[in-house]
Amino acid sequence: MKKRGSRSRPFGKQLTDGLRVQGRGVWTLNSDSGNTVYGESVRRIAKEEWRRWDPHRSKLGAGLQRTSGNLTEILPSAGSRILYLGAGHGTTVSHLHDLVCGEDNHLGGRILAVDLAPRCLRDLNHLASTRNGLVPLLADARRHNEIAAIMPYRVDWLFQDVAQASQVEIFLAACKRFLKSDGLGLFSLKAASERWDEEGERALFTKVAITLEESGLDLVESIELAGFEEHHMLFICRRS
Ligand SMILES: C[S@@+](CC[C@H](N)C(=O)[O-])C[C@H]1O[C@@H](n2cnc3c(N)ncnc32)[C@H](O)[C@@H]1O
Repeated sequence: MKKRGSRSRPFGKQLTDGLRVQGRGVWTLNSDSGNTVYGESVRRIAKEEWRRWDPHRSKLGAGLQRTSGNLTEILPSAGSRILYLGAGHGTTVSHLHDLVCGEDNHLGGRILAVDLAPRCLRDLNHLASTRNGLVPLLADARRHNEIAAIMPYRVDWLFQDVAQASQVEIFLAACKRFLKSDGLGLFSLKAASERWDEEGERALFTKVAITLEESGLDLVESIELAGFEEHHMLFICRRS
């Protein structure tokens, strides 16, 4: 989709070469200038094109609005290696690509974007055709050997948004197998995909937080996404 912004004056505050904030708005430097991915707003500063990260379309984007931490500590840095489980149509992946790869992947990052739906892979492959460093994979997040065949190393940053039953177990197993020590693992929990007991959603969120910590991850922050995504919690963990 082509979309061009009209303003050319600097706006907001630049946090890194590829990340800018204005008020609560988060923007990434488009690594595929002239093209947008999901109809997001665009602004131009001289030859740079910035894409607004829509918190209503991306759970990570929503988490960035709500975090009490620094965005630069939560987000992967330029050149990072990322494993993304449940990549969907590439909305969030595209912003991560702006940050870790940049135009023609001059930053040297790599994102393995895994999804088991062929219709998602079509969109991810289309995205990857103009975004070097993005590698889509049609696979089940639970099939580690298929992932390891493409990515035989550990990653700096792992994100999971599979919205299916046993999300916690899938996340813990993926962190154990693929996340570097000191790497960051982020996990969007969809309450509706799990069985709740009579204590309800709040008890489920608490139970999951305890499970993450008992499994040896340091829970950095739990961010409730209600208002952007109902019945979702984003957990940010560090592997010690
Ligand atoms: C909520 S969508 C992801 C949206 C995406 N994270 C974004 O922000 O743009 C969940 C995705 O997880 C995928 N999925 C569900 N179970 C999976 C599994 N076991 N392995 C890989 N992908 C899975 C679905 O096909 C779907 O595309």
